[in-house]
Order: sequence, then structure tokens, then C-alpha cells
Amino acid sequence: MSEPVLVALRGVSFTYEDGPAVLTGLDFEVREGRALALLGRNGSGKTTLMRLLSGGLRPSGGELTVTGLPVRYDRKGLTRLRTTVQLVVQDPDDQLFAASVGQDVSFGPLNLGLSDTEVRARVAEALAALDITALAERPTHLLSYGQRKRTAIAGAVAMRPRVLILDEPTAGLDPDGQERLLATLAGLRERGTTVVMATHDVDLALRWADDAALLTPSGARTGPAAAMLARTDLLAAAGLRLPWGVAAAQLLHRQGVLADPANGPRTPEELAAVTAGPPGGGSGATGAHP
Ligand SMILES: Nc1ncnc2c1ncn2[C@@H]1O[C@H](COP(=O)(O)OP(=O)(O)O)[C@@H](O)[C@H]1O
Ligand SMILES: [Mg+2]
Repeated sequence: MSEPVLVALRGVSFTYEDGPAVLTGLDFEVREGRALALLGRNGSGKTTLMRLLSGGLRPSGGELTVTGLPVRYDRKGLTRLRTTVQLVVQDPDDQLFAASVGQDVSFGPLNLGLSDTEVRARVAEALAALDITALAERPTHLLSYGQRKRTAIAGAVAMRPRVLILDEPTAGLDPDGQERLLATLAGLRERGTTVVMATHDVDLALRWADDAALLTPSGARTGPAAAMLARTDLLAAAGLRLPWGVAAAQLLHRQGVLADPANGPRTPEELAAVTAGPPGGGSGATGAHP
């Protein structure tokens, strides 16, 4: 993990008014180009952390840095932050407000004071990236949930952020919607956007993320996703279970089918490939069943 740090929270504490401390002395880094999953149980502070990263909340202690420089919470500093980091909130209805899809997606770029030509180009690019070009004129109140979610993401993409942060982006999507979202994120990553996603879906994180950050009461622990998601101690502290892919890898390893338990299946297709492949992992595979 030697990629440069784009945004970071350094020793950040945060408490809502009249509430208990949500985060205390938290260190958290987003590295360029790494797909990062932020995992933790409900109420662990994932949304709070993401709002701190995107400037919607201000730390009560510690600091937010962008490419190493502390963020200033004045107009100029926040504009710089918004063109670097964009957050898509969990519920699209909290994000969408304009009458049509095109108007909603153009709001951010217009606010940056860009020319009409530039705004149009960005909106077209964002709609295409989210595969919703055909919805440009559609009233937002007539969209399906999945379409509203895509529109909200397009609004963030139109800002051309270096880091796109998505809070529980797959929540409420059907399986096909989830697959389409993952394909969209792959496309954005290919074009150089760093993507961070909060989720409590450990299977999704194992499949999608390069790195996983587990949010526990004693802070966030970040590392390569496959290794982090096999740490039963950290998973328990974060209120999460073992991903099925890790459990399957451990079982296949014990049965001699898989040589390296850290290189296990992450999808049903990969599981099929492992069990159908040559018995490179050992001869114990045959005769395992009476
Ligand atoms: N606006 C708010 N005012 C007061 N407390 C809040 C607010 N938002 C969240 N909290 C509390 O902060 C804690 C962390 O919440 P949150 O960041 O939403 O966690 P997560 O996204 O992991 O579910 C919870 O205990 C929650 O009840
Ligand atoms: Mg949340």
C-alpha cells in the first residue's frame, strides 16, 4: 500500500450535539486508486466518518487533510474539497431535489461557475457513465429507486472528484441492480476515480475491495481485503461475520483442494473454478466424501 494518500482523517474525534462520542482519535486514509470498503455494524460511525471525509461534518478534534494539506472550512477550502471528494449519501431522496435528472446532475458543476459548454459536457459524461443518458429529461419524482440512486451518483461524478465515496450504495438494490452498480464502479475506477464504499456486506467487500477498513470501538483497522476479512477477532469486534468466500477457502484448504487459503473464491463462479480445477492443491480432494 504505497499509493499516495489522497484524503485522510488524522486523530479525528466527533460528537453529535447532546450525543455520546461517535469517533475518538480516529486515523483513516484513502489511498489513490485503491478500492476501499469501510465496514462496521449499524451505528458504528460509517456514515459519520464519510461525512467527515467529505466535509459535511467538521471534526471536533484532529484534522482532515487533502493531499497532505489540512482542509480549511472556508469557501475556498470547501470548494477545493468538493472537487476532490464527493459523497453519495445512502438515501437518494436526501440528495435529489431538482425537477429533472439533467437539472439535478448539472447542479454541482453550475455551482462551480463553469461555462454552459463545460457543464453540458460534464452532465453528458456523468449520465453516460451511469448509463442513464435516456433519463436526462425525466422528472426525478417519476424515477424508480435504482434510477434515483444512479442519478445521485451521476451528480457526484459530474464534479469529477478524485475520490468518490458511496454510503451503502447497494442497499435497496435488487441483484441485477447490484451487478450494474459494480460494473459502473469498475468503469469509473478504470478512468482513475478512487472509490470508497461503506457497507456491512462482508461478501460484497471481499469481492469488490482491494482494501478493507474495519470500524471497531477502538478505531479503524485497514489492510488488504482478503486478509482483513479473514481476521475473526477484528470481524467480531466490528460486529461482522466471516464472508462465505473466506469460510469456503478455509474448508477447501483443509480438504486439500485449495493450496493457499488466502486466495479463495469470492464469487460462485470462482468457487466452481476452484473445485473444478486440476488437483494442484493436493490429492486429498478425492475421496473426501464417503
Ligand atoms: N444527526 C445525528 N445526531 C445525533 N446522533 C447521531 C446522528 N447521526 C448519527 N448519530 C449517532 O451516531 C452513531 C453513529 O451513526 P452512523 O455514523 O450513522 O453509523 P453507521 O453509518 O455505521 O450506521 C450512532 O450511535 C447514531 O445513533
Ligand atoms: Mg450509515
